[in-house]
Order: sequence, then structure tokens, then C-alpha cells
Amino acid sequence: MTRHFLRDDDLTPAEQSAVLDLAARMKADRFAHTPLAGPRAVAVLFDKQSLRTRISFDVGIAELGGHPLVVDTQVTHFGRGEALSDAGRVLSRYVAAIVLRTHGDDRIAEVAAGASVPVVNALTDGFHPCQLLADLLTVREWCGGTVGRTLTYVGDAANNMAHSYLLAGVTAGMHVRVAGPDGFQPAAEVVARAEEIAAETGGSAQVFTDPVAAVRDADVVATDTWTSMGQESDGLDRITPFLPYQVNKTLLGHAAPEAIVLHCLPAHRGEEITDEVLDGPQSAVFDQAENRLHAQKALLAFLLAG
Ligand code: CP
Ligand code: NVA
Repeated sequence: MTRHFLRDDDLTPAEQSAVLDLAARMKADRFAHTPLAGPRAVAVLFDKQSLRTRISFDVGIAELGGHPLVVDTQVTHFGRGEALSDAGRVLSRYVAAIVLRTHGDDRIAEVAAGASVPVVNALTDGFHPCQLLADLLTVREWCGGTVGRTLTYVGDAANNMAHSYLLAGVTAGMHVRVAGPDGFQPAAEVVARAEEIAAETGGSAQVFTDPVAAVRDADVVATDTWTSMGQESDGLDRITPFLPYQVNKTLLGHAAPEAIVLHCLPAHRGEEITDEVLDGPQSAVFDQAENRLHAQKALLAFLLAG
């Protein structure tokens, strides 16, 4: 059966750990692994904007010995009614894997339904699982491991990052807390699934509205934009209710003294995070951005090995 990576829980705890081990090895010896030698092509398709995902997949596929095809979907038939399952079926005749950034999770599920090669979620409205592999690699590097560590995400707890922290964090054996204002809480289905995984790994999943209670003694404090791509004109006040959730020195002061800070970027400096924190000694954000490259190379190698 073709393995896809559409959500964080598409990898078991053991598989996620193996991918992160491989990512560390690939980072240590960057040009030594060429499972895409041929070169085999990988299609990397974007329905939404990107800097990090776009460049890190392009570079990573080349470093694996493959041929990256990075395409903005406006120049394809994606937006004008071609069945996405047909697109997945056709692309599978050309490429070894399909990486897609899109809107609804139903869209990537449709591509995967037609595809006979691995389909990788490069961000949807619901999840950002490639980002989480990079985040967990960063937590391993900065905190010495993930099992038993507490990770708190504050901000828009209804967005893709919040959902991915819940699923991927507990898969890695972490205690995951997410905090957001009323009306910006995670999907009940995702919380329930995270609790189910946590029961297996010894982690836990908790939802808060109080940012201080959520951050208390945390080992990792993470945040993300209050306005995700596509939400710019959704008519909601995406500033006022979020102000208490800003990651600033005061909020970070409630975390463990050695706590690290994560942000997937792009950051809206002065909104969800202050310059002082983002550029400060506890910020692991730029290692986190680099780790997209290593984590995604490992993920592709894992999926292609079947
Ligand atoms: N973090 C992240 O996915 O960044 P891009 O939107 O720039 O790809
Ligand atoms: N939640 C953000 C993440 C960007 C990488 C968005 O979806 O726009």
C-alpha cells in the first residue's frame, strides 16, 4: 500500500522516531544520502504562498539526487475543475512522490485517493505535519529529547499548527498544551485523537484558555501567526482576543528557566511574538527553519523506501 503523509498521525511513534533519527544522520552528513538518484522526480505543488517549504523541498530533493519540480498550481488545471484524483493519478505516472500545499484537507485527500505514489502534506488548513518533524528535531537538539517534555502552543489554537502540535507532540511522547481564546480552540476530533495516541506513548494533550497556566514550567513555548493564509478577510478580530497570548518576556518568564521558543515563521513581529524573544537566547526558531530541510529529506527517503 502506498504510504501518504497527510496528517501527523500517519506516522506511528516508532516511525516518527525513525524519521527523526534519519534526519539527524542526514544533517550530520548532508550529501551522503541519495535515494532519489536517477534522478527521480518529485512534484512540489503550491495552492498557497511559501518561502521555507518551497525552497527546502527544492533543495532537499536535489540533495537526495532527485529532480524537484516546483509548480504554482495557478499555471495548472488544479483551480479550474480537473478532478484532483485524476491529477494525482496522472502525476503518479511521472514522479516518485507528490508534495502539496493546499487549502482544505479534502483537497489533498482527493489527490492521494488517485495517487499511486506517496503524497505529502506541505500545509493544509488543518495540519502542517512537515513543520512538526522539523520542530521535533529541534526539540531533540535543544532539549536532549522529546519524551516527557512539556510543549505549550499559544495563539490561534484552531489552526493547522495547533492541530499538528497536538498530534505530532503526543506521538513523540510529549505533554502538549494548547491555549487560545474562546472561539479559537482546536477541533474536538484532533484533541480526541491526540488523547488516544498519548495513552499509548505516555504523553498528554490539554486545552487551555489561560495562557499563563498553559505556559507554566513548559520546556518549549511555541506560537504562530494569528492570521493564517486565507483568513485575511474572514471578518474576525484576529488581534484583540489574542493579545494576552503574545509570546513576550513576561509570558516566557512563566516557562521553565531553560525553555526554548519555537515559531514556524513567517512571524508577525510585535503581534504573536516580540523581537526580544524571537531574537533572544531562548529562540530556537532559525534552527527550526533549517531543520525543515533535513526532516523533509528523511521523510521522503522513508516514504520512498516503502
Ligand atoms: N513555516 C512555513 O511553512 O513557511 P513557508 O510558508 O514560508 O513555507
Ligand atoms: N498557520 C500558518 C502557518 C504558516 C507556515 C498559515 O497557515 O498561514
